Amino acid sequence: AAVRPRILVARAVFPDVLERLRAVFDVEANQEDQILAPAELAHRLADKQGVLTTASERIDAALLAACPQLRIVANMAVGFNNFDVDAMGAAGVQGTNTPDVLTETTADFGFALLMATARRLTEAEHYLRAGQWKQWRYDQFAGAEVHGSRLGIIGMGRIGQGIARRAAHGFGMDVVYHNRSRLAPDLEAACKARYVGKEELLRTADHVLLVLPYTPASHHAIGAAELALMKPTATLVNIARGGIVDDAALAVALREQRIAAAGLDVFEGEPRVHPDLLALSNVVLTPHIASATVPTRRAMATLAADNLIAFFDGRGPLTPVNT
Ligand code: DGY
Repeated sequence: AAVRPRILVARAVFPDVLERLRAVFDVEANQEDQILAPAELAHRLADKQGVLTTASERIDAALLAACPQLRIVANMAVGFNNFDVDAMGAAGVQGTNTPDVLTETTADFGFALLMATARRLTEAEHYLRAGQWKQWRYDQFAGAEVHGSRLGIIGMGRIGQGIARRAAHGFGMDVVYHNRSRLAPDLEAACKARYVGKEELLRTADHVLLVLPYTPASHHAIGAAELALMKPTATLVNIARGGIVDDAALAVALREQRIAAAGLDVFEGEPRVHPDLLALSNVVLTPHIASATVPTRRAMATLAADNLIAFFDGRGPLTPVNT
């Protein structure tokens, strides 16, 4: 019989997906489901040809140098800022991600976080649970309007377009967007979105939603200067990656009410959350769950596994990021 490729499953995954992988590969699974430190990951990958990762495992030149047999890294995420794509290319290592399967689910969550933030949902619930609710009052937890307001989307890929469609068609919002490149006219028409410069977007949007990839160019794309352009009544929602927002600057802007509120699903250096954000009530905080529905997480795991299977049986990766 042919020698079975050796793969590492770097984090816990659905048991039946693991069984599918075990049927074709020689699998080592990280049963403890602790994030492997770089040296430990390198050690476990030293004799592996493939690995299934999440966005938590960093694949860089130092790791690749220690893993000469590695040929493919299948990320269970659409974002792949944990990959050093140049180093992987130089080492001849294929990378794959999980696009499309999470688009609509993640767009749903972007909208949920926008609504929770604008309407002060978690702040109000904490107040109720703490037994502080004594009577109805005219201005109690009065937030910002969502329907009919202007939504500014920064990053207009598949997920951004999904949010734009929800906003324009479902909530009658005036949608503007900023992106590296303008969408084709038919795509713009489908989501009723208008292209504007970043500064105009920040100055005029009632709600700013971030859904762009994290790259060196987007590091701290929203810092003190950008926050200063926003309306004092505006909200900021980040479902993209921590690091796109300067969390320390955001905490200052929220504390001084230079913007009204923020909703954050991702953080710089997560799972650590900036203590100044934790101390504020005008921010909704969630633990990187935008793609977290059972069917979508299952589809992501399945696609990551399918990428490994297709790569090793010679069909080639299904959703490559660097070829
Ligand atoms: C993604 O798919 O990129 C999500 O953020 C999960 O890491």
